[in-house]
Amino acid sequence: MARTLHFSIFRHNPYDPQSVPRMQSYTLDETPRATLFTTLNRIREEQDPSLQFDFVCRAAICGSCAMLVNGRPLLACKTRTEELPETITMHPLPFFRLVGDLSVDTGSWFGEMEQRVESWVHQQHSFDPNGLEERMSNDKALEIYELERCIECGCCLAACGVALMRPDFLGAAGMLRVARYLADPRDHRSEAQVLEVLAPDSAVSGCVGFLACDDFCPKNLPLEEQWAFARRWLLAHGALSDNRPTPQRIG
Ligand code: SF4
Ligand code: FES
Repeated sequence: MARTLHFSIFRHNPYDPQSVPRMQSYTLDETPRATLFTTLNRIREEQDPSLQFDFVCRAAICGSCAMLVNGRPLLACKTRTEELPETITMHPLPFFRLVGDLSVDTGSWFGEMEQRVESWVHQQHSFDPNGLEERMSNDKALEIYELERCIECGCCLAACGVALMRPDFLGAAGMLRVARYLADPRDHRSEAQVLEVLAPDSAVSGCVGFLACDDFCPKNLPLEEQWAFARRWLLAHGALSDNRPTPQRIG
């Protein structure tokens, strides 16, 4: 029998001085196999055209539709309402600038992070457009590909207690980006450059190891493994005290 879903959705327009943050209720019958994304579309089409939320791909590829659902960060286009209880509370992702209702600006943060970690291959020689491609083994290419799968949804940062306390935290997505270049044999950035990015309290040294990032990454990226790799790299370069534990999963 079809369920009746009861939504409580955060509403606020930060650009309207008259707007007051509030929760708004919507009720509708569940459509079998519907995702949260299509259900939000139904609410917007049938009940409230003013409701703001983001999406592009509807296939868990673009990272636009991340939001907090019953307190957990997830992708609305990848989540079926059948996986949730009848009462569903939705908030925008914390940590990022609010655009309105469920829509946040993740792009500015990721753009700044890419500048901070210098997210491009560092080489000593200038690019030769007529040169042969630099070859690498399939295994190495696959290792880099695995670290490239981040869709910049922001779920890892929204789930991270450290990021919520300090907005300058590099977070799992930033750490993963550095790990991607450390794995790349074409990248010749200096150790000093890597230390400058990874060592501060606003980066690897500040991670307390709760690993909520790993729990909530919708692409199942190896974040726990990469935090441990970053810790070991800093230890090997004398930038981390070895009496601090490598992140461990709790419980
Ligand atoms: Fe999203 Fe995972 Fe990338 Fe974080 S690491 S932004 S959770 S895909
Ligand atoms: Fe692209 Fe959900 S709409 S990830």
